[in-house]
Amino acid sequence: MCGIVGYVGNKEALPILLEGLKRLEYRGYDSAGVAFIPSGGKIGVERAVGKVAELEKKIAGMQDSGFVGIGHTRWATHGIPKEENAHPHRDCKNNIAVVHNGIIENYQELKNALCARGHVFRSETDTEVIAHLLEEESASLPLEDRLARVAPKLIGTYGLAVLDARSPEKIVAMRLGSPLVLGLKDDEYFIASDPAAFISHTRDVLYLDDREIVALTPQGIQIFEGGVQKKKEVQTLEWDVMKIEKQGFPHFMLKEIHEQPKVIEDVLRGRIDSKEGLAHLGGLRDVEKKLREAKRLIIVGCGSAFYAGSIGKYMLEEYAGIAVDCELASEFRYRNPVFNEGTIVLAVSQSGETADTLAAVHEAKHKGILTLGMVNVVGSTIARETDAGIYTHAGPEIGVASTKAFVSQVAAFALLTLFLGRQRNMTSVMGRHIIDELAALPEKIRIILSQQKDIEKIARKYADVKNFLYIGRKYNAPIALEAALKMKEVSYIHAEGYPAGEMKHGPIALLDSSFPVIAFAPQDSVYEKMKSAIAEIKARQAPVLVITTEGNTEFSQGVDDVIFVPKTIEMLEPISNIIPLQLLAYFIAVAKGLDPDQPRNLAKAVTVE
Ligand code: M6R
Repeated sequence: MCGIVGYVGNKEALPILLEGLKRLEYRGYDSAGVAFIPSGGKIGVERAVGKVAELEKKIAGMQDSGFVGIGHTRWATHGIPKEENAHPHRDCKNNIAVVHNGIIENYQELKNALCARGHVFRSETDTEVIAHLLEEESASLPLEDRLARVAPKLIGTYGLAVLDARSPEKIVAMRLGSPLVLGLKDDEYFIASDPAAFISHTRDVLYLDDREIVALTPQGIQIFEGGVQKKKEVQTLEWDVMKIEKQGFPHFMLKEIHEQPKVIEDVLRGRIDSKEGLAHLGGLRDVEKKLREAKRLIIVGCGSAFYAGSIGKYMLEEYAGIAVDCELASEFRYRNPVFNEGTIVLAVSQSGETADTLAAVHEAKHKGILTLGMVNVVGSTIARETDAGIYTHAGPEIGVASTKAFVSQVAAFALLTLFLGRQRNMTSVMGRHIIDELAALPEKIRIILSQQKDIEKIARKYADVKNFLYIGRKYNAPIALEAALKMKEVSYIHAEGYPAGEMKHGPIALLDSSFPVIAFAPQDSVYEKMKSAIAEIKARQAPVLVITTEGNTEFSQGVDDVIFVPKTIEMLEPISNIIPLQLLAYFIAVAKGLDPDQPRNLAKAVTVE
């Protein structure tokens, strides 16, 4: 989704802004722009539709761009992607430039009133009203005070940054429901919607909270809330620039698929006690007693995080004996969910910034419910706003289609299952068994990854199909949905995921010789059921690709393709079974000449509803 970067310091701003915008490209966008204040003191603005490279061409060779600037990558909400709609947006007199993430819901009303007062708009965006509202405030006030006066007029969500030619050394920024983070390095200061934008310069960060306003100048930063200046603690990020580079892989998606053995190791590190069959989850220590007494868990999330939660539900019910519901956050927030005593809400999110998931957390908090987060991005809003939680330690995920973050969430659910299970009825023998199987996963994933060439061949064979059906049962039912999501996201092939038991209730009508089916059929408790489903599919002449257990010879005939995965316990099958399907989606996208890292229309973090 949209990205913001801003810089003040002693270096030429434009190259730093461009580098920052490139690092934000993974979030998904359709146009980009920068505003800067050269020594002449007038605001310069350059914008371009398409990639940041297009913007770069426009500003190539530009000198004396000054030492302060803001940049933006736009993901269109109001108005089509065109230069006039790209950020930054200015006021009538070109004194002010604004970049904005989020949505101003009452923009039309504000725009009508501003137009009636003589303001002239140059874009169809909601953002432009902010520039004009700032223009109406007295220029004798500091920019941060003017922003404080404008903010109450805005309904919606925003992370925004503002420049004013009349205070040429300053950026002012504010957030409400859309992330902003400050980077600090000696006498250089950065502001961004994601620390990836400035991670090559500094790892010292400070996260803004809702309604905080910050003023950045080369002399330092000042944070205000309700007009009062406040101090905040600087944190040091653990990851570095290496983690957000491709390191020899052609795409981030492939790199991140290959990182998964290490991701499992990182999720488990320091958290398992093999002797006692226990999981130690430091982030849950403060709420241990409440968890022991919990009667029901509601997992909320969107997209892949929801599917990880659906797998978590199966695990927790089977091994921890706790009632679990898993809900789409986007639906949960508008229902009137019933919270009984002992209900806990667990929000799952890679980014920790997904608007719907955050809203579900707010709803639960409002009702006085204990909230937990299962989040990848350290310091993100959901991580900070939930009462306790588990970090998934997948490291920065740049590919828009979630791969390693999803797998880390499923592994974190296995740990949570151990944690809650051992608080309840799970024996230490069972705990140790799960831990042994978890610890064996990285090697098993490496074995699957070593089949990459074979999977690439299968991908080429299926690259031109128009549809896929994915089916699985029990733990592999949510995996069928996740695998189908991967395929549609990166290859744009229509792919449906279904629990195999539902096939006869409708989707079997779709099948013919042009409609391939991908069936998860490991040798587990539902294997025989899956075999019957596969036979029924073959009877309709649909091509079948089966994912089954290494050494199983039963599919040596009768199906079209087989991918073998090493045996593991049923609750961990989703982790090994998704890997070949991530590779399949990736290689089909590549075979079709698509960019799997930045699929059309998609954004990495969906920070607006
Ligand atoms: O950052 P989150 O985990 O909250 O994101 C949730 C979904 O937007 C995300 O999983 C999305 O479905 C991915 N593109 C899936 O690959």
